[in-house]
Amino acid sequence: MTQDELKALVGQAALAEVVPGSVVGVGTGSTVNCFIDALATMRDRITGAISSSVKSTERLQALGIPVLDANEVESIPVYIDGADEIDHRGHMVKGGGAALTREKIIADLADRFVCIADASKLVDTLGRFPLPVEVIPMAAAQVARRFRRCYGGEATVREGVVTDNGNLILDVRGLTISDPPAMEAEVNQWPGVVTMGVFARHKASVCLLGTPEGVKTLRF
Ligand code: A5P
Repeated sequence: MTQDELKALVGQAALAEVVPGSVVGVGTGSTVNCFIDALATMRDRITGAISSSVKSTERLQALGIPVLDANEVESIPVYIDGADEIDHRGHMVKGGGAALTREKIIADLADRFVCIADASKLVDTLGRFPLPVEVIPMAAAQVARRFRRCYGGEATVREGVVTDNGNLILDVRGLTISDPPAMEAEVNQWPGVVTMGVFARHKASVCLLGTPEGVKTLRF
């Protein structure tokens, strides 16, 4: 199976995680696009969606799925999103699509995070994928210096990208993230960091992993 076929497989499988009558949290990326397309088949059985990006919002609305503002809900039962990497404990690196801040906000509203990913995303240790960090523009150089000093990582500004929140994305290369919760807690303290792309505090509850043998369910 191709990577695109694996993404379509898990996008379809994620429908079983949607709670009928509820608001569903929807992430961003090519795997989530497959889920959104599948979700259209049950749009009459959900109240609507909360979306993590302008792109996902447009796709949801084009398929007739109502999109609510996150401030309209106190909690949601499930958030379905992809990942750039996921380890065997459910910690993830996210933000390849530059939507990490809204993704973490929705993950925080959700009782369960369902990660949908093809098998290439499963890793023993996070860090091979450049770590995305959303920063306030005036802090970009200072945060980059701090990554080099504290973790030996090389941070570069993602060219031509302004987030939906008007900020910049740093991509940090050369990291070995052996303790994701500790790194997330530390970097969150740095002035100018809006959101860093390790999802450890808001890790996956379950991962639907697309493999050539079918969908494997990993529970964390
Ligand atoms: C979006 O900001 C990311 O967190 C995505 O979840 C990630 O990039 C996965 O994208 P694909 O499904 O396209 O691999």
